[in-house]
Amino acid sequence: MASREKFGGRAAVILALAGSAIGLGNIWRFPYLVGMNGGAAFIVIYIGFVLLLSIPIFLAESIIGRSSGTNCRAAIGRLVPGRAGRWFGLLMVFTPLWIVSYYSVVGGWSLDFLVKACKLEFTTVAPELVKGTFGTFISSIWTPVLCHLVFLAITVGIVAFGVKSGIERFSKVSIPILFVLILVIAGYSVSLPGAGEGIYYLTHPDFSKVTVQTFVNALGQAFYSLSLGMGIIITYSSYVSKDENLLVSAVGTSVSDLLFAYIAGFAILPAVFAAGIAPGTGPGLVFDTLPYIFSSMAGQMPVASAIAAILFFAAILVAALTSSVSLIEVGVAYLTESKGLSRAAACLVLFFACGLVGALSSLSFGPLSGIRIFGGGLFDFADSFASNVLLVMGGLLCVVLVGWVMPLRTLFAEFTNRGTLGKNIRLFPIFYFLIRYVAPIGILALVAASILL
Ligand code: PFF
Repeated sequence: MASREKFGGRAAVILALAGSAIGLGNIWRFPYLVGMNGGAAFIVIYIGFVLLLSIPIFLAESIIGRSSGTNCRAAIGRLVPGRAGRWFGLLMVFTPLWIVSYYSVVGGWSLDFLVKACKLEFTTVAPELVKGTFGTFISSIWTPVLCHLVFLAITVGIVAFGVKSGIERFSKVSIPILFVLILVIAGYSVSLPGAGEGIYYLTHPDFSKVTVQTFVNALGQAFYSLSLGMGIIITYSSYVSKDENLLVSAVGTSVSDLLFAYIAGFAILPAVFAAGIAPGTGPGLVFDTLPYIFSSMAGQMPVASAIAAILFFAAILVAALTSSVSLIEVGVAYLTESKGLSRAAACLVLFFACGLVGALSSLSFGPLSGIRIFGGGLFDFADSFASNVLLVMGGLLCVVLVGWVMPLRTLFAEFTNRGTLGKNIRLFPIFYFLIRYVAPIGILALVAASILL
């Protein structure tokens, strides 16, 4: 393993991790959750969870990854010997591959909508006609499946180039571009007539709207958005050099992710208010509502709306790609290091496996819509099984391993770089308390609340 690749420095580490974190969760999920959960009050609670739970869990995963310096299955196997370790390790490899199969279906939608935006299909057609675009598109057979496969092919294409020339180079270019794109769209959105109400909504917490469900949603999003519990942080951190301060990369990634989600809120919600639409429209907010908004605005400002539509779907596409790259890398690291496959062969195997499973999710909006599992279609099942079961199990496993199984010496050495990071030494007892008690209890409370509610 002498030739194992490493990220080239702190900026590269944070950008790659931020690339994983910033994804559909920020642009597609965060704004509608804010819309459904009382605006800024949700954001305040969300920030609390990020500080108390996400950052410590992120650190726990980073510590497992860097201390082992190997893929996630082998890393967990070192902490838990025998069969249990093998199964836990495989679970952590399986989760991101399961996720990427349907995540790339949504990635495919953004690809198709980008093409539609470039062909001015949203801005030269009446709003009433644009309204049905999404429903008609996802229930068709070939185009969504094809877009999903193209999206997946781009993902494995990037990963095939390796950690430094593929993932690092792609994140270094795309994350800054993404921030510029979302800032430009937010600028457009807040300048629309009638946007004031949306801005007020994002900046003035209304705690009277807060319910237990708000807390459950905020905690779920804190997990999802930072890509916790699915082996990604373990895998990426195994490429981090021993000199990096893991606390700095955890905080840097969390702050970038939060900032991006908040700006995405400003890109979407003021436009939604300006168009007189209810903000809590749910998951359809981005693909259903926004094309309608672009079309409605096109009457007064055709050029600006057309540009905004293109930039918007380009941003979603790039954000989805940086995350899907990280999801696939977990499987590639496992197949190359533990199964001896070449990087190219591993990419090919995963393309076919995830392509096939994802196609079933895609078809569940059309010809396979009759297949119902727990009351939902295949796509909904794949998503809720991942978010509610796999991520939570993975997260709990990591905090228990770091808080209760890993030798305290290793934990301290990783957190403080063998005692050389002065500030981290003072913060260590707080981290240790959070990871040993607060994080497992927090995760179990989330599980209990989501079962009981
Ligand atoms: N953190 C990324 C996002 O917010 O989109 C990636 C991701 C997280 C993908 C969780 C899928 C998932 F279930």
